[in-house]
Amino acid sequence: MLQDSIAESIHRPAVLVIFGASGDLTRRKIIPALYNLFLDRWLPQQFRIIGFARTAMEPAAYVAQLRSGVDQFSRRGKTGDAEWREFAAKMEYLAADYEDESAYRALLASMNAGWGEAADKIFYLSTPPALLPTVIQRLGQAGDYWDRPEYRIVVEKPFGHDLASARELNALLKRDFSETQIYRMDHYLGKETVQNILAFRFANAMWEPLWNRSFIDHVQITVSEEIGVGRRGGYYEGSGALRDMIQNHLLQLLCLVAMEPPTSFQADEVRNKKVDVLNAIRPILPEQVDQFAVRGQYAAAADADRERVAYRSEAGIDPHSTTETFAALKLYIDNWRWQGVPFYLRTGKRMPARSSEISLQFRPVPHHPFSNTLIQPNRLAIQIDPQEGILLRTLAKEPGIGMNLKPVEMHFSYHEVFATASPDAYETLMLEIVRGDPGLFMRADQVEAAWVAIAPILQAWQTTVPQDFPNYQAGEWGPAAAEELIGRDGRSWFMPVCLEPGSRNGCKI
Ligand code: BG6
Repeated sequence: MLQDSIAESIHRPAVLVIFGASGDLTRRKIIPALYNLFLDRWLPQQFRIIGFARTAMEPAAYVAQLRSGVDQFSRRGKTGDAEWREFAAKMEYLAADYEDESAYRALLASMNAGWGEAADKIFYLSTPPALLPTVIQRLGQAGDYWDRPEYRIVVEKPFGHDLASARELNALLKRDFSETQIYRMDHYLGKETVQNILAFRFANAMWEPLWNRSFIDHVQITVSEEIGVGRRGGYYEGSGALRDMIQNHLLQLLCLVAMEPPTSFQADEVRNKKVDVLNAIRPILPEQVDQFAVRGQYAAAADADRERVAYRSEAGIDPHSTTETFAALKLYIDNWRWQGVPFYLRTGKRMPARSSEISLQFRPVPHHPFSNTLIQPNRLAIQIDPQEGILLRTLAKEPGIGMNLKPVEMHFSYHEVFATASPDAYETLMLEIVRGDPGLFMRADQVEAAWVAIAPILQAWQTTVPQDFPNYQAGEWGPAAAEELIGRDGRSWFMPVCLEPGSRNGCKI
């Protein structure tokens, strides 16, 4: 039934224009996602993809470049000739200056040509952030979109650089588009395992009575990456871990874990509940920033691994850079459910393993009659990546004489249970854009509330120069100060759990 209703909603013809079409994201994510949707027959029959960028290029060269991207990055591996030919016939390329008003008018005329008049028209902004205002203004001058649901605008992250710039960007977008026409990307929201947090919490009656301050001691959210900044030095240098990861991905995970049950899955109902969480985050006072937040930057790896150089030696990075590649925070949510429960968040590049995981540590039993045994409180770990699933750690009696306890694990793994591979987050999100459902995208107030939450930290880190950078080696779990942050509360960071030992995704730790 649901599949039918989705199929129904993608009948309309659509024209998608990608601004920033010669960029990395288009090759790595956007086009592979569209290609996979095409293979799965989720794209409308009548579908055009227009690439818009400054680089002068023959359309054939452009398409060839995209094919190599799909071959390299699609979850399905290499493209087949016949399928690619059919898909490539939908693509066009337009080289133009982003300032050139006439280029936008020509673009709109082209989008509206033929069946385009009756089609949905999607502007996908994947340009460097500095170009966003220009593209939005020029688009606004070229056409009239207000409250016309057939026009949609998609904005890639980062959405602003701080609260003021995010507000400016929202104001600019809202001159020509109503909120329901605006799709602010956070690709974490398209991940199956992230969406499953809602299913897990609200489709199973057993968790809700436990999901609060009476039973949960604290929550940890870790998103660690093994990679460094790679070729994105230019962007990352002006961003850092707090803006790049915490302001969006980690705070979104926090919202899903901490939100109240929604009464429906209507886009605004879920988003209202998330905004409530962001608004309830206890403000960090300027003089408290050091107690609540830690930053780090990686040095070269201890071994002579030539690839894992110091951040300051990466391409495009200032040799004296003070940009953080690691951030850890402690947050409190001031409401009835979570009063007094700390949420520890950390993220970093060049860490020992790639892992995105949310752990809820339950309180210890109030009394236990098991003498001489260390009682470990229960832990529920939701692994978003790389292994997709959930693990519950409990204690069990070890076989044999006497009452000896041992931690044991119950787990659910997507890979073991479901025959179909999870789609890439971009596939899910792209389909929602084509269908016209903004539920998995960030609303203006959400983005702004997330900036408000981190504003005191941003401010403090901008005004004080870190004296100890670099303060962790590539291949470590961040600086010692991050251990101290959580250690002061008598706790420590968890290692990622292992859902499927020996599987293709392996467990490194
Ligand atoms: C992006 C960040 O939004 O997310 C990158 O800009 C980061 O720096 C990436 O590497 C992580 O996404 P994922 O899906 O690999 O966890």
